[in-house]
Amino acid sequence: MCNLPKMRSLSFLSSSSLLIALSLSALRAAASLAPKGEWTFVQNGTTGITALEVILVSPTLILMFDRVLGDPLQIDGHQAWVELWNLETNTGFPLNAITDTFCASGAILSNGTMVSLGGQAAELPAGETVPPDADGRMGIRIFEPCADPAGLNCTLFEDPATLHLAANRWYPSSLRVFDGSLMIIGGTHEETPFYNTDPENSFEFFPPKDNGQTRSSPFLARTVPTNLFPRGFALPDGKVFIVANNQSIIYDIEAQTETILPTIPNGVHVTNPMDGTATLLPLSPPDFIPEVLVCGGSNFSDATPSEDLSSQDPASDQCTRITLTPEGIQKGWVIERMPEARMMPEMILMPNGQVLIINGAGTGYAALASVGDPIGNSNADHPVFTPVLYDPEASLGSRFSREGLPTTDIARLYHSGITLTPSGNIFLAGSNPNGGVVENATFNTEFRVQFLNPPFISRSRPTVSSVPEKIAFNEPITVDIDIPNDLNTGDLKVALMDMGFSSHAFHSSSRLVFMEAQLSGNKKSLTIKTPPNNRVFPPGPAYIFVTVDDVTSTGTRVMVGSGAAPPVQDQGIPIPFTS
Ligand SMILES: *[C@@H]1O[C@H](CO)[C@@H](O)[C@H](O)[C@H]1NC(C)=O
Ligand SMILES: *[C@@H]1O[C@H](CO)[C@@H](O)[C@H](O)[C@H]1NC(C)=O
Ligand SMILES: *[C@@H]1O[C@H](CO)[C@@H](O)[C@H](O)[C@H]1NC(C)=O
Ligand SMILES: *[C@@H]1O[C@H](CO)[C@@H](O)[C@H](O)[C@H]1NC(C)=O
Ligand SMILES: *[C@@H]1O[C@H](CO)[C@@H](O)[C@H](O)[C@H]1NC(C)=O
Ligand SMILES: *[C@@H]1O[C@H](CO)[C@@H](O)[C@H](O)[C@H]1NC(C)=O
Repeated sequence: MCNLPKMRSLSFLSSSSLLIALSLSALRAAASLAPKGEWTFVQNGTTGITALEVILVSPTLILMFDRVLGDPLQIDGHQAWVELWNLETNTGFPLNAITDTFCASGAILSNGTMVSLGGQAAELPAGETVPPDADGRMGIRIFEPCADPAGLNCTLFEDPATLHLAANRWYPSSLRVFDGSLMIIGGTHEETPFYNTDPENSFEFFPPKDNGQTRSSPFLARTVPTNLFPRGFALPDGKVFIVANNQSIIYDIEAQTETILPTIPNGVHVTNPMDGTATLLPLSPPDFIPEVLVCGGSNFSDATPSEDLSSQDPASDQCTRITLTPEGIQKGWVIERMPEARMMPEMILMPNGQVLIINGAGTGYAALASVGDPIGNSNADHPVFTPVLYDPEASLGSRFSREGLPTTDIARLYHSGITLTPSGNIFLAGSNPNGGVVENATFNTEFRVQFLNPPFISRSRPTVSSVPEKIAFNEPITVDIDIPNDLNTGDLKVALMDMGFSSHAFHSSSRLVFMEAQLSGNKKSLTIKTPPNNRVFPPGPAYIFVTVDDVTSTGTRVMVGSGAAPPVQDQGIPIPFTS
């Protein structure tokens, strides 16, 4: 698992021939697309910690979290493990934390406050006598909304004695739910070698419900030992879909019931340490029917001891998709295949409704130094260097495309972070399948930041202005828009997005809700109907992107709902949908 400080000898197996082949095809594809702009990877800046958790906390700032094991960034005479990244300068600076944030989770509340949750016990870096960090397994860290674009004076608040979780949680997930609170799912208590052998099979909430007691989950109990970082999504009726290992449920927070859904087909395990990834596909008016897509992972048996698994075991190329209506559940998971297998892929919802699948490895597993033949310390090998797009609207069999997508030479494996930015491009950082800072290995500790720029970044784009700071549910709002003349305004989409919290091949709370929109006769203003209620879009900060003719504006931040602290009352009008 994460916490294996012992280094193994390095090996230099490489996949350079594969990389060259992919680069050539990407160059050819990019050349043919030049007039419409092209996808590009651009490296810019270096982080001072490994960006293993990443969350956008303001239009210009990304907050990153790591562990305490030798990162170069310093604060108050010791290593920093939290960094604030300024997207305007592409530089970062340290923030102080009290507790350890390694393999924690996080999300933003309905009042805009970001909360980091869980972590590991204190860790002693080489050469030091006192750990700089305190036990983070019950950690609750508060980052209040930061008004300064450069993040000056913005801090992380912790008071472990009075503000903490009900249970020790290392490797939990957390997501914002319909009342603006966070639901915290699962995790493990202690260091375990690979699988979850000391599970915390329960849910809890922040702010607490149930007088701070945990709720035990039969689903989590059934999904050990491959249920770390469960993937959960708030459904448009307020219930929560969760997938872990090869199983999934719908959890009703109010009735406290678990409804069992069909098993993921073909024995594929999709959560840590056999990380696939999952996303809630974009929700569209008028019905907001939820569909979930799950991709990658491994079909090797999780009854196999880790030392009998190999870094060369092929990952799964399987994606499965389910519609969460009674008919859709009856039909079950529909199987699709990615162009290549991926362990630890990431899925990024793009403002045009497509899903970018990126990062990860063709073989092996998540975690480090636990399989029989790690590459250095990495349980995974054959990094996948070329992303692929998935179009949920296309017909089955023709949804994947990598036309024009570029190839990088930076491996993003275990402990990497990634997020969509308000500019509409994708921030990539981190990767460290090592128990400390390593250079000159096949898979180093990665500090280089990259952006993946979609074709529209280099084009003349629609600009949106006069967007209200707060939007209520089920209300029309009117914004000003300026659309370049060469774009077909008949193809116009307005997306309300949460970029989510990136950790361990998963974007918790990530969400895209399309909104109905009407362009004025002179094409200078746009009237948008906000989501019907707080279950369709859990209240909190979001970004509005307008895409015209596949060219996307920058995202404007809004507060969805009143901005009140959770739990908030139901708002807006009900929709017919129930899962
Ligand atoms: C890197 O980012 C900085 C700050 O935004 C910008 O000034 C610079 O041009 C960028 N460099 C590259 C190579 O994109
Ligand atoms: C940050 O704090 C310092 C000292 O309190 C103050 O002088 C400065 O104006 C603050 N900066 C911002 C951007 O709030
Ligand atoms: C699901 O995974 C468990 C092990 O975690 C395994 O025992 C079970 O057979 C799998 N079920 C299916 C249908 O693949
Ligand atoms: C695992 O998946 C691979 C690739 O799809 C397939 O060839 C293999 O038969 C599967 N193994 C099992 C045990 O299902
Ligand atoms: C890595 O390689 C470079 C160039 O050969 C060398 O200067 C550096 O000392 C090496 N670093 C480590 C930690 O071995
Ligand atoms: C938001 O609510 C949380 C939980 O009650 C609280 O800790 C935080 O201070 C609030 N933030 C603001 C800006 O009021």
